[in-house]
Amino acid sequence: MKKTMTMKMAKVSKRWLRGVSFALALIIMVSGGMILNSASTDAKAKTKYVALTFDDGPSTVTTKTALKALKKYDAHATFFVVGNRVASGKKYIKKAIEQGCEIASHSWDHTNLAKLSLAQVNKHFEKTAKAVKKAADYDVKLLRPPYGAVSTTMKKKFEHPMILWDVDTLDWKYRNTPSIMKYIKKEVNDGSIILMHDIHKTSVDSLNTVLKWLKKHHYEVVTVSELAAIKGVELDKGVYCNIK
Ligand code: NI
Repeated sequence: MKKTMTMKMAKVSKRWLRGVSFALALIIMVSGGMILNSASTDAKAKTKYVALTFDDGPSTVTTKTALKALKKYDAHATFFVVGNRVASGKKYIKKAIEQGCEIASHSWDHTNLAKLSLAQVNKHFEKTAKAVKKAADYDVKLLRPPYGAVSTTMKKKFEHPMILWDVDTLDWKYRNTPSIMKYIKKEVNDGSIILMHDIHKTSVDSLNTVLKWLKKHHYEVVTVSELAAIKGVELDKGVYCNIK
């Protein structure tokens, strides 16, 4: 009698154990799936985009350092080139395009376009675009007016998008990495446009730090046109300081 009871109890507890372990396995599978799911949603939600831009180049001395850092971090930048520097910097323009970077116009000779007539502004844009086309068979679409100077006439009548910035690193002024990083950390946001200059050694030398920080903070570094495409914004005439 006693023996049968013990056997019965053993059978029951075996069944009970089986039930518990099945339930546990189910809980682990479901919660594991939930964790995976929320991890991928987090990664998606965390990805932000920023357009890194360089003015005043190309430089036969420093632009290559910028390209090397961009390649290392799989980042794309927009180079707003000065027309009269295009022929001498042809090699770097071609390399930038090969790496997925964008080439745009920064006038023919860094003139303040806001002081010119619309016809003269158009001439600056077209002359630079023609030089880039000749150097690299590439169509320039965007203008960054030198000094960010835009006249009312340009605002109303210039036919191409004018790209300004919302993160000014003041890299031309302070010439060191900590200062560049200070402005980026303070001002960068999803959809920001960062202004730098690839003609200064201190600026291109800062890029490993800049790109590492942006990556760590879930920013994908893209060209201005890529940023617009990602944000679903069709770049039209007018002024853009960021693309949200
Ligand atoms: Ni400039």
